[in-house]
Amino acid sequence: MKKILITGGAGFIGSHVVRLFVNKYPDYQVVNLDKLTYAGNLANLKDIENKSNYTFVKGDIVDAAFISDLFATHKFDAVIHLAAESHVDRSISNPLEFVMTNVIGTVNLLNAAKANWTAAPNNRFYHVSTDEVYGTLGETGMFTETTAYDPHSPYSASKASSDHFVRAYHDTYGMDVVISNCSNNYGSYHFPEKLIPLSIYNIKNNKSIPIYGKGENVRDWLFVEDHARAIDVIFHNAKTGTTYNIGGHNEWTNIDLIRLLCKIMDKKLNRAQGESAKLITFVKDRAGHDLRYAIDSTKLQKELGWTPSLQFEEGLEKTVEWYLQNEEWLNNVTSGDYKKYYEQQYTKR
Ligand code: NAD
Ligand code: TYD
Repeated sequence: MKKILITGGAGFIGSHVVRLFVNKYPDYQVVNLDKLTYAGNLANLKDIENKSNYTFVKGDIVDAAFISDLFATHKFDAVIHLAAESHVDRSISNPLEFVMTNVIGTVNLLNAAKANWTAAPNNRFYHVSTDEVYGTLGETGMFTETTAYDPHSPYSASKASSDHFVRAYHDTYGMDVVISNCSNNYGSYHFPEKLIPLSIYNIKNNKSIPIYGKGENVRDWLFVEDHARAIDVIFHNAKTGTTYNIGGHNEWTNIDLIRLLCKIMDKKLNRAQGESAKLITFVKDRAGHDLRYAIDSTKLQKELGWTPSLQFEEGLEKTVEWYLQNEEWLNNVTSGDYKKYYEQQYTKR
């Protein structure tokens, strides 16, 4: 029996982690704590919401008193922390919100864990982080676990800060912590503000696909269910105080990725080949846009035996199919404020 607090479980990656833990570990009690911001959606968990080992709590990790009460009530054995503001573009327009949730929220959780776990040495705090803390690569090389932190965006600066706090609680107070830094995820339940789901949504609706700059920036894409599996493996097997990089060895320039996506969309929507690619529109570049991310996940593969399960083309096709079959989900998350935000977002070059 274990009682695990998963934060941010109504978001994209969090919902996959919650689903995996609830289904795979019927003996664990999973408590999903989420503020339900624009990015959090309980519809992401419809299939498991009635399971007896699952509980949802709505709340804000920035509220220290609330977090302290929650820990006192539930006596968690472990935390898997995913709650965050996660979109780089939003961090450029509103950095403070990222400091509040990603830094202050993480420290609130660490403090509550520290206060409740002093008597029990084996309570694990797992912090889910990003490869963006390492900054940007040039044409060659890869991020390893020993690459120095060099964040550039307010988002990555806030995640780097939270990673440092988590390590500090290990080094200073002896807390059992683990951290993983993962590359860009894609798959179902991804909010359509990020490149892949936004492009699927726009292609479906015959809207332009905004490509920042020349589309030459490189990201290393991993199927979200492979990330959730890696979190499971690391949570159960990593030594205390360790860090693992998670990635799919799957680098794509944005423009090549979008061309591939356009081909898949033409096929799935029965459009003539080349039709969707006509929607590609180059727009003003993102400020401070990191050129290239690439993750070396050899440590995770060698030490814990994890490997990605899907080829990118297969994963992307599955993802497109999911979005086309889940029109109601897509319509719901793109109603309300969504339209206003996106109409203001882009300037054509
Ligand atoms: P997301 O934006 O889809 O979901 C974040 C969730 O956190 C939402 O459900 C939201 O409601 C919740 N949340 C936000 N602020 C909160 C607060 N103050 N209190 C409680 N809940 C709050 O994000 P995601 O893409 O699923 O990312 C999850 C985690 O994984 C983040 O920590 C992110 O930094 C990290 N990560 C993401 C990626 C990626 O490609 N998306 C890659 C590596 C790491
Ligand atoms: P994104 O999905 O926002 O993830 P991240 O910034 O965390 O890597 O962006 C992925 C890449 O796609 C990044 O290089 C920025 C670029 N991009 C576009 O070209 N157009 C868009 O509309 C978005 C959202 C991103």
